[in-house]
Amino acid sequence: MKLSIIGAGYVGLVTGASFAELGHDVTIMDIDDEKIRKLEKGIIPIHEPGLDRLIDKNSDRISFTTNMEQVVREADIHFICVWTPPLEDGSADLTAVRSVARELGKNFKKLKAKNQIVVTKSTVPVGTGKKIRALIRQTYKNEFSVVSNPEFLRESQAVADMMRPDRIIIGSNDNIAAQKVAEIYKDVKAPIIITDLATAEMIKYAANAFLATKISFINEVANVCDLVGADVEQVAEGIGSDKRIGKSFLKAGMGYGGSCFPKDVRALHQFSNDSGYDFKLLKSVIEVNEQQRNLIIDKLNKHLKIMNGKNILVLGLAFKAYTDDVRESVAIDVINRLQKEGANISAYDPLALINAQKHLGEDVIFVGKAYDGAQGADAIVIATEWPNFKDLDWPSIKDLMRKPLIIDGRNLLDPNEMRRMKFTYEGVGRG
Ligand SMILES: NC(=O)c1ccc[n+]([C@@H]2O[C@H](COP(=O)([O-])OP(=O)(O)OC[C@H]3O[C@@H](n4cnc5c(N)ncnc54)[C@H](O)[C@@H]3O)[C@@H](O)[C@H]2O)c1
Repeated sequence: MKLSIIGAGYVGLVTGASFAELGHDVTIMDIDDEKIRKLEKGIIPIHEPGLDRLIDKNSDRISFTTNMEQVVREADIHFICVWTPPLEDGSADLTAVRSVARELGKNFKKLKAKNQIVVTKSTVPVGTGKKIRALIRQTYKNEFSVVSNPEFLRESQAVADMMRPDRIIIGSNDNIAAQKVAEIYKDVKAPIIITDLATAEMIKYAANAFLATKISFINEVANVCDLVGADVEQVAEGIGSDKRIGKSFLKAGMGYGGSCFPKDVRALHQFSNDSGYDFKLLKSVIEVNEQQRNLIIDKLNKHLKIMNGKNILVLGLAFKAYTDDVRESVAIDVINRLQKEGANISAYDPLALINAQKHLGEDVIFVGKAYDGAQGADAIVIATEWPNFKDLDWPSIKDLMRKPLIIDGRNLLDPNEMRRMKFTYEGVGRG
């Protein structure tokens, strides 16, 4: 089939490459000239394991462009994969989605296109599909269909998630269009759930909000564990072994970040409100998530007394391990807060240093090795759950530090082992 992908970010590139792998011809479009030029030269602008190989392997089926007319000329099913960042009030900014809809409409009309299907993969509030239809209709009067096919990929394992998803959601008020989109995935072994447009849009938000709720729930359990002397890691293991609960998303720590959970939880809360429903549970999920990062700063304050002039090494800048993505990373927020209190920050991340530099002031010292940042440090904060931090030579790090304090915001290290090495160690909810 001839498909287009509009928006060459994490979702767009992985979707495009995976569709090509499934044998489809794919035109990938973005307004970012530089990005498209790089992609044409085989340079992949994001870190996503397996993506470069997939694009290279299928290069004869993938083309890149900045031109929407070419998109409409070359494809008849168009996947909108542009960003939908949060606005000040928490609602999703649909400027890019609207602009794509208008451009599609103009070019459908200009090229007298027929049998067009517009699919949203971007995460968009319920009702957006209808708005896209109305916007295209303003210029293009022929029949076309709108489908919602929300994306559930996880950065750092996005290729695997696209090729082997738990389920595929396809929502449309036009059953023939939904079946056509389902046909794209015919070689993917996953259940396909077909719904109406609004339901598919809602499924994406409900899924992310539920996972975020699990995280905030275990974080609250952790905070009680700290007070009563229980270990949240074992509590999580104990409750997660119950199949009805499941082990995933029960990791206590500094809270969730990234480009999806924070914005999607706030957006669901916002559009529930706009629809006349006060989603009380989500309000608490958001509050608890905020509270967790304050808690890390409180733990530091408790030990250091005065933050001003203290040297703190932050290990991990990405919003999670195995990615270079720092969007809404809790680490970045915590660094900003510590700097406001006068702390001197050095920071290390195996992948995200370059992206983090764009978000943090010049005052942060970025180090190429954890050991360099440990020199003279009064504390280390573990902010991302990179497993290789476990393998650092901790006794040598201790010798380099001025004060052997570790605040483990991701419960990555073994508290007993760290205390045996004579570190002052605090995790989250470790009793
Ligand atoms: N990143 C994830 O893990 C993930 C997972 C599931 C769903 N989503 C959702 O998918 C959408 C895209 O997320 P992402 O992480 O890929 O974003 P991204 O920021 O990585 O990429 C978005 C791309 O859209 C392009 N763009 C913006 N306006 C455009 C326009 N008018 N025309 C063409 N291109 C345009 C940008 O230049 C950018 O390359 C968002 O709605 C997000 O919530 C993301």
